[in-house]
Amino acid sequence: MVYAAFRSIGAYAPEKILTNEDLSLMVDTTDEWITKRTGIKERHIAAENETTSDMGVKAAQLAIERSGIAKSDIDMVICATISPDYFCMPSTATTISHKLGLPTVTAFDISAACTGFVYILSIAKAFIESGMKKNVLIIGAEKLSSITDYTDRGTCILFGDGAGAAVISATKNKEEAIIDVHTGADGAYADLLMTPNGGTGSPHDALENEASSCFMQMKGNETFKVAVRTLTKDVKEILADNDIEMDKVKHFIPHQANLRIIKAVGDALKMKEEQVVITVPKYGNTSGASIPMAMNDVYENGNLKSGELMLLDAFGGGLTWGSALVPFSPLKK
Ligand code: UT7
Repeated sequence: MVYAAFRSIGAYAPEKILTNEDLSLMVDTTDEWITKRTGIKERHIAAENETTSDMGVKAAQLAIERSGIAKSDIDMVICATISPDYFCMPSTATTISHKLGLPTVTAFDISAACTGFVYILSIAKAFIESGMKKNVLIIGAEKLSSITDYTDRGTCILFGDGAGAAVISATKNKEEAIIDVHTGADGAYADLLMTPNGGTGSPHDALENEASSCFMQMKGNETFKVAVRTLTKDVKEILADNDIEMDKVKHFIPHQANLRIIKAVGDALKMKEEQVVITVPKYGNTSGASIPMAMNDVYENGNLKSGELMLLDAFGGGLTWGSALVPFSPLKK
């Protein structure tokens, strides 16, 4: 039996920082309001000429370097993004692959918004366990600033840019294996969080002179409530299905959307403060990049050790959701 092991993590945050004070000069808001309602203090914003794939490449280079696996042995690249370099094609994954010097490997994008990283983890696991691939590079990368309406105070305070990447590889050692990944979706809630224009659902002639054609729109308060409910249910289900108690989880790494959401979920699940990973104050919500960026912070702070169990939990536009039980299994101990 072949299993899939989570070997390494890497991330990249662009240099420019957008603070709450900066935003208060752009829309009718304050540092106090943003901090109290979201926990966010600042977010990183990509340079004008810096693309989603540029950020993905930087995160991927770190992940490959830390994996101990030769770049030439990577046989698939998957990117989760809702802010791709190009609207239809080529995919951001093929662009990343090209920039990394991996010319002919299978490469494709998936669209599952903030749940994207959990979705690509499940795809990597399935390809490896079926024997079709051996070493899969997965990347969550977002330039959300390019689809954010900086005149809408309800959304522009939330989002930031960045990328995170991981190498998943085949192992025969069951102790190293990703234990389980759950994913789900319900299109009935599509209008809670969407970019309503720019696709075939909104013909281009209706968009003439429409500056905000591809910007995100959100019913924040409704989304908040569904997020807390769904994230909590996800965790209960994956732990119960695998007969694992919460105290076996070393790092709970939820999607970083809002500190109040994370705290509400942590409280509902009676988690200890030290189990819960929080990076939303410094990165804001980076959608598909948020979980690997948070994980990378734990790693770079020296707090992610071989064998430690991570519990990932995500929720996003679609609606989509997902959770994963993942031991950290580096080749280099
Ligand atoms: O990653 C995918 C999932 N995304 C999420 O999970 C995001 C979920 N939603 C949220 O994080 C929160 O709903 C927000 C932070 C977006 C909003 O917080 P809220 O506590 O739900 O506020 P609200 O939308 O109910 O608005 C309360 C008031 C309103 O004013 P009135 O109608 O009471 O006079 C808003 O107009 O706050 C106002 N408001 C603001 N005031 C100052 C909304 N945005 C702002 C702002 N600054 N930036």
